[in-house]
Amino acid sequence: MRIYNFSSGPAMLPEPVLERARDEMLSLGGTGMSVMEISHRSSEFKAILHGAEQGIRDLLAIPPNYHVLFLQGGASTQFAMVPMTFLSKDSSADYVVAGYWGKKALAEAVREGKTNVIWNGESSSFTRVPEFEELSFSPDAAYIHYTSNETIDGLEFKYDLDGGDVPVVCDACSNILSKPIDIEKYAMIYAGAQKNIGPSGVTVVIVRDDMLAKAPGNLHPLMDYRALAQNDSMINTPNTWGIYLIGLVCDWLKEQGGVGQIQKLNEAKAKLLYDAIDSSDGFYRGRAERSSRSTMNVTFNLATADLEQAFVQQASQNGMDGLAGHRTSGGIRASIYNAFPLEGVKELISFMQEFAAQNS
Ligand SMILES: Cc1ncc(COP(=O)(O)O)c(C=O)c1O
Repeated sequence: MRIYNFSSGPAMLPEPVLERARDEMLSLGGTGMSVMEISHRSSEFKAILHGAEQGIRDLLAIPPNYHVLFLQGGASTQFAMVPMTFLSKDSSADYVVAGYWGKKALAEAVREGKTNVIWNGESSSFTRVPEFEELSFSPDAAYIHYTSNETIDGLEFKYDLDGGDVPVVCDACSNILSKPIDIEKYAMIYAGAQKNIGPSGVTVVIVRDDMLAKAPGNLHPLMDYRALAQNDSMINTPNTWGIYLIGLVCDWLKEQGGVGQIQKLNEAKAKLLYDAIDSSDGFYRGRAERSSRSTMNVTFNLATADLEQAFVQQASQNGMDGLAGHRTSGGIRASIYNAFPLEGVKELISFMQEFAAQNS
């Protein structure tokens, strides 16, 4: 029996994708081999890689002056690789710290060079993201870095940050492909696949030509975006399985009508859940300020940690898993990415209502 997995990632994959992967497991396209057994230099795998790349390009309407890379090391490696590449000794980078992951990214940049935190939500316990008007960039910053959806805190930017002449680098791990974005506002976007794009172990990097041109020439090839782009992300053996699944997820998302359609469904799912929280007479309390509420990660609290623990336990007994908040923040977090079904949200809401009635 499949259960409703509310985990923040690795998260639920679309069932038709899992079924197709199962059907193709022993023999991919008549090769008599699984995708994990064929050479990454084979024509079959090259077609898979180019298909996955095209899928991402089509879904996000990525212009030709951007590269799409499939890297390893998770989004956390990008926290380091971005400043290692773009932060030179005599430059500084602007960081927006709106939550746990923005803070992590900043910590890696601080190791590399000068940073300027242009907004920090920590003093208000990461309960909102800034309005665009609150941000003032350093005109000569090497780049501006922000996290478009703070997975742990349940906060989401509702706008594409426009840096003007300053390149914008975005960690979009937990809301990429959940809605259309204005890609040309970004110099670079990166995202670990394990939430909305595929399995863990592969990180999608979308980077603009002019940004790539700024990379110094003396980097280790595997840490060099330019070399990786020139070699189709295959300087060494890539995560073939992960890239294959990304292609299948892109096909599925196109069948759903693309990111515009999935956005409508995502917003409908999130609204149902936030409405259930708001109409609970305070039994459930949303963590984020309303204007910053994430469509992907719905965070809330109950009156006590004991009650929250009982909630998580009983939900699990009822076929709903992964609802405990992050170990650093506690509370409850329901992650409802693209592949999370509407029925699962409705089931959670029924459970929430029963639990509130029994414990009020
Ligand atoms: C917004 C965000 N950034 C970065 C990460 C770290 O990703 P990884 O585990 O792929 O390094 C996560 C993981 O959950 C995340 O949600």
